Amino acid sequence: MKRIAVLTSGGDAPGMNAAVRAVVRCGSAYGLEVIGIRRGYAGLLEREFVSLGPRSVANVLHRGGTLLGTARCEEMKTPEGLRRGADSLEEASLDGLVAIGGDGTFRGAQALAELTHVHVVGIPGTIDNDVYGTDFTIGFDTAVNTGLDAIDRIRDTAEAHQRLFFVEVMGRTRGFIALDVGLAGGAEEVLVPEVRTDIDALCASIRTQFEAGKRASIIVVAEGDDAGRAFEIAERVGTKLEMDYRVCVIGHVQRGGAPTARDRLLASKLGSGAVRALVEGRTGVMVGELAGKVAETPFELTWSQQKELDMDMFHLMRTLAR
Ligand code: F6P
Repeated sequence: MKRIAVLTSGGDAPGMNAAVRAVVRCGSAYGLEVIGIRRGYAGLLEREFVSLGPRSVANVLHRGGTLLGTARCEEMKTPEGLRRGADSLEEASLDGLVAIGGDGTFRGAQALAELTHVHVVGIPGTIDNDVYGTDFTIGFDTAVNTGLDAIDRIRDTAEAHQRLFFVEVMGRTRGFIALDVGLAGGAEEVLVPEVRTDIDALCASIRTQFEAGKRASIIVVAEGDDAGRAFEIAERVGTKLEMDYRVCVIGHVQRGGAPTARDRLLASKLGSGAVRALVEGRTGVMVGELAGKVAETPFELTWSQQKELDMDMFHLMRTLAR
């Protein structure tokens, strides 16, 4: 292993820069040449390569976004796109590739590992935390803390006006962000795709809570909830209860900002683990963290297996909201 590349792909996540920095500096410590690929797989297809030395990743540890840029690349889902990606890797005389992203990124990574002689490993980077094989993905902790900050602020104004608020957080198909934001923020209810939303039961619960003396109610909604987006749910509930309500969509605010210490530490640990995996000859695996330890999981399991939402915490949220 002499020459490796690193790319970030899919939705950016705070801490991706810390992971790139760790790959570059650990690679350098092993005596490897490290190449950055701009704009994820889109940049791989266009051969957008840049040489990265330890100094190129100075002053990025605390920055959100990704210094390499990222993209959602539809072409990499086609056989022709994969062939072009494989050719780009081979022609650049690379021995290894570190792909940072979510399960979509790992599907591309697995295909490249099969089509080339290049060893490919992944690092889980997405705010959604929806990747099997790691307890946490890079960016999740920051996104939860950003959502929590918003909830704390909304709580002030909600209490002042005795209002019902619906706060939508990111989470396209999973409720990890919503559950943690809701539990940590003392939400009155959390709506997640994993649990069917019953509008009548939700209305009854809100009414009971106000009757019991609550002065405000905050309902955290994952954007992928089965009952729809926050505006839709709010309108149904507000109409049924004949209550004034407000909706706040936090959206992409959660994707930006300085990564928390936890995300920087995780990114540094996994960046180092990914380079070690390459140097020791492994390929086709995601390097994650399970029970505090670096753990490697075959790419295929990261999308074929589902990480479960902690239902004990879900029930605890409801208990604590009474
Ligand atoms: O990266 C994950 C995520 O932030 C999801 O939570 C969200 O649904 C999606 O990306 C938004 O993607 P885009 O930035 O492409 O609109």
